[in-house]
Amino acid sequence: MRCRKCDERAVINMRHHKLALCAEHYGEWFIAQTERAIEKYKMFSRDERILVAVSGGKDSLSLWDVLLRLGYQADGLYIGLGINDPEPYSDLSLEKTRQFVAHGEWRVANRADNDSAPLAPRPSPILHVVDIPATYGKSIPEISRAKARGQGKPCSACGLTKRYVMNRLALEKGYTVLATGHNLDDEVAVLFQNTLRWQTGYLARQAPVLPASREGLTRKVKPLCRFYERETAAYALARGIDYIYAECPHAVGNLTNFYKTLLNQLETESPGSKLAFYLEFLRARGQGVFDKYNRADELHACETCGQPTSAPGRCAFCRMWDVSAIVR
Ligand code: AMP
Ligand code: FES
Ligand code: ZN
Ligand code: ZN
Repeated sequence: MRCRKCDERAVINMRHHKLALCAEHYGEWFIAQTERAIEKYKMFSRDERILVAVSGGKDSLSLWDVLLRLGYQADGLYIGLGINDPEPYSDLSLEKTRQFVAHGEWRVANRADNDSAPLAPRPSPILHVVDIPATYGKSIPEISRAKARGQGKPCSACGLTKRYVMNRLALEKGYTVLATGHNLDDEVAVLFQNTLRWQTGYLARQAPVLPASREGLTRKVKPLCRFYERETAAYALARGIDYIYAECPHAVGNLTNFYKTLLNQLETESPGSKLAFYLEFLRARGQGVFDKYNRADELHACETCGQPTSAPGRCAFCRMWDVSAIVR
């Protein structure tokens, strides 16, 4: 198969867009599509400082690469979860993330072919690393075992911790936006799960942009939400970004992955179904179908750490980690 634009060998064929592209043109297309999503959903502007949550995987590293090539002020946050048994999953993820910063591939800016002006030098972005065991005394599997949350699986303790650390670091370091690498497959699996049980409150809050509705919360954005997982993987490959292939050992066999398998079968039979499911949901949501379910809970400041929490007293994070004094 040949590239639609230049007749080189195509590296990807996107049946739902009826588009095959070579590595070079695919990279350009991916960047342009991301910029369109940023503008369409009004995610952020050029003068904002963006914090990208990077896990060392293909989605978040591709996202960081694209934002840097587009010239955004985008720094990274890696959260070390201490998941290193049986394989050094967390250590390897951090290594891939550090390698990405050291290689600096994004310095090759995306520019129009006819633009021969020299590129302005780009400063290296900052990589913030929060190591959970070093900061809070236990790894995620250890705190999870100690608290027996989530029927023995550490995923709920992990999710709570990641959300807390992301929001807190963004606020403390003065970032107005937090960007995550969620792709279309991630979003559709969650949408499917919420639709199966008509969890209207969750549906009302699932969006490419979650505004910072209250003081103490950061705006959250998902610029890659319209790309299939294979498209973000193809971007990383096309750009030579080395990422961690393994997924978290605790995620293997979970419900979200089961839904992803089901939805992949649907997609094989009917290409474009996932994208249509998601975009039509966003259209309905945009028309206000779920507005009445968007409860604006009253928020309180956690009495220990000052972060926003729905119930008065200590927040869920401080309760789980038995934090009694955090320097504000
Ligand atoms: P996941 O929940 O693992 O599917 O990851 C969804 C998104 O959360 C990723 O694309 C990243 O943006 C972010 N993320 C996941 N794990 C980490 C981590 N350890 N450190 C920083 N960000 C992360
Ligand atoms: Fe958190 Fe797997 S990434 S438990
Ligand atoms: Zn081409
Ligand atoms: Zn707290």
